[in-house]
Amino acid sequence: MNPAHARVLLTGATGGIGQASARALLRAGAAVLLSGRSHERLDALSRRLVTEGFDATRIRWTAADLGHAQDTRALASEATRLCCNVVIHNAGLPAFGRLEQLSDDTLEAVLQTNLLAPMRLTRALLPHLQQLTDAQLIFVGSALGAIGLPGFSVYSAGKFGLRGFAQALRRELQDSTVQVQYLGPRSTDTGFNDPQVQAYNRATGTAQDPPTAVADALLALIRHPVGERFLGFPEKFAARLNGLAPEWLDGSFRRHRESLPPSPSAPTAPPPLLR
Ligand SMILES: NC(=O)c1ccc[n+]([C@@H]2O[C@H](COP(=O)([O-])OP(=O)(O)OC[C@H]3O[C@@H](n4cnc5c(N)ncnc54)[C@H](OP(=O)(O)O)[C@@H]3O)[C@@H](O)[C@H]2O)c1
Repeated sequence: MNPAHARVLLTGATGGIGQASARALLRAGAAVLLSGRSHERLDALSRRLVTEGFDATRIRWTAADLGHAQDTRALASEATRLCCNVVIHNAGLPAFGRLEQLSDDTLEAVLQTNLLAPMRLTRALLPHLQQLTDAQLIFVGSALGAIGLPGFSVYSAGKFGLRGFAQALRRELQDSTVQVQYLGPRSTDTGFNDPQVQAYNRATGTAQDPPTAVADALLALIRHPVGERFLGFPEKFAARLNGLAPEWLDGSFRRHRESLPPSPSAPTAPPPLLR
């Protein structure tokens, strides 16, 4: 699609990748419906964009907590009312650490925001999108949606799930006017990665892209509707290889394991069963 014809619902618009993407979309002539949880952050962002010279008539925002089904439905109604023809599912939460260090609340929030919410939002929007002559659903996944790394079990579960969802839906909708696409960025320099993740990245030699690189890739996906794309080398290659033969890579992550925060439950001698 020519981005100048795109009316884009962008979730996670207030975050690092979201803000860079909003600017890239507006620069390319698209209209945007920005979404995030916070009224204040969305209002401030849209004002800032207008101050930077972008056309205010092409910027709308609506707050929605994608952890709540009701908000998700309301967001879908607003995107339908504004006749959005591109949806970029970009909102997401991080989860880093050994599995035993992650709380129930983290497990639920991450899977809710990163997996269930895009599924619910897509289902609510499909009747509208299928009436259009051209529409695109773009899921912002991760390299970790194709390769599981120590420390990212829960995050990977959500992104692998999202990728599976996008792939099946792409095939389900192949005869329709709706394109389904998945973008797998590698580590990106935003507030998403806390100091522990940054230390892990340094220790493992993991490169970071600037958020503008992800924004450019999203724009390229709007222009050329390829089904799936990963960013960065060697991540792009590792994602493909891991899909082919995951066991080949199982022995490659010692440095990653050793770079995890120490386990709070270091092994101790088991109590004797009988005294
Ligand atoms: N940064 C990376 O290294 C990296 C790498 C690969 C993939 N990704 C993916 O890229 C996407 C964007 O990441 P980012 O780096 O831009 O992260 P970020 O700066 O932390 O931004 C996250 C965005 O998600 C929104 N969000 C979080 N929970 C939400 C909820 N319950 N309801 C609605 N919105 C919610 C936040 O909005 P508010 O907080 O304002 O409500 C914010 O706009 C995510 O899907 C992430 O998994 C990131």
